[in-house]
Amino acid sequence: MPDMRAIGFTHNQPIENNQSFFEFFEPRPEATGHDLLVKVIATAVNPVDTGVRRGTTERLDRPKVIGWDAYGIVTAVGEAVTLFQTGDRVFYAGAFKRPGTDSEYHLVDERIVGPAPTKLTPAEIAATPLTSLTTWEALFEQLPINFDAPKENTGHTVLIINGAGGVGSMATQLAHLAGLTVIATASRPETIAWTQSHGADYVVNHREDLVAQVHDLGFKTVDYILELSNLNQHWSEIVDLIKPSGHIVSITGSETPLDLRALKPKRATFAWEWMYTKSYYETPDMLSQHAILTRVQQLLDAGKLKSTLNKTMTPINAANLRAAHALVESNRMIGKVVITNA
Ligand SMILES: NC(=O)c1ccc[n+]([C@@H]2O[C@H](COP(=O)([O-])OP(=O)(O)OC[C@H]3O[C@@H](n4cnc5c(N)ncnc54)[C@H](OP(=O)(O)O)[C@@H]3O)[C@@H](O)[C@H]2O)c1
Repeated sequence: MPDMRAIGFTHNQPIENNQSFFEFFEPRPEATGHDLLVKVIATAVNPVDTGVRRGTTERLDRPKVIGWDAYGIVTAVGEAVTLFQTGDRVFYAGAFKRPGTDSEYHLVDERIVGPAPTKLTPAEIAATPLTSLTTWEALFEQLPINFDAPKENTGHTVLIINGAGGVGSMATQLAHLAGLTVIATASRPETIAWTQSHGADYVVNHREDLVAQVHDLGFKTVDYILELSNLNQHWSEIVDLIKPSGHIVSITGSETPLDLRALKPKRATFAWEWMYTKSYYETPDMLSQHAILTRVQQLLDAGKLKSTLNKTMTPINAANLRAAHALVESNRMIGKVVITNA
């Protein structure tokens, strides 16, 4: 097999250091089983990228390649592949335990891949898979909300904590399309405006008292809460604001233990969402990520859902990857940053 170009790191270094990511060559992998070999055209950077890089404190023997969101062209398929063929354009968010998309070619299991939208640019497409899968699984699998029943959902309220980030920009749109009343949080004029333009009915400030602000809007409690930033910081507000028998989902985890006992008087339910669970454990419903991405592709091509792309860098190289990581690390990202060769 010929070599391919890749971008990686051996240990965490400040992102300003020009060795925090470097380019190198390694053998191009071969597609077997359910794998597709994809030529990567565009890739987005998410907080998981910066988290994994910063968490690599011990020096590795070989450079590690990360990166999850991708848009690209299938160049080879494994013998068990049935969903795609060579030449297909695809988008996906990949698997946590496999090498990433910051390389010229990338192997991915067909069951977590969707057919790429046809009416969007490569960068617009690469901005969408990880956040749409996370949102879809959080709202429509981990919470009892049926995306296809907007009439049934009308009058039900969701509070989305962190409305302008990558996931929030997708979540406000999908919750709005599902017929929910959306209260989303943002703290700066530009994030407030972005959140409103992505389907939020109301915006409250997560740096001020959320309980008082939601009450001032006329809501004593909300039916659902989607937590997308700093669960520990917002936990007591979540407990106060959830409706009796309401449902909460968190995608962020917690640094200190959560007091789940606080939910007992309201008999509220709490769920986690991890976008990688299905591929990590190869669950029987792993193929559902193919189905979700196919729905998302249809919504994007129909113009019902819009890409959350906000910043584009060209081409895919170490300098642009460092710049994109620096943006995401700032914790002030609005929508998505994508690095593209197209
Ligand atoms: N479990 C999963 O499968 C999964 C998947 C994707 C992401 N995640 C995690 O989910 C989180 C959000 O991801 P993302 O890509 O949406 O992040 P992001 O794009 O980096 O979010 C940036 C936004 O966070 C807001 N923010 C900063 N501090 C906040 C706070 N204390 N409370 C509420 N909002 C705050 C900022 O809004 P203002 O500037 O207006 O303050 C900013 O616009 C990350 O922790 C990520 O690792 C988990």
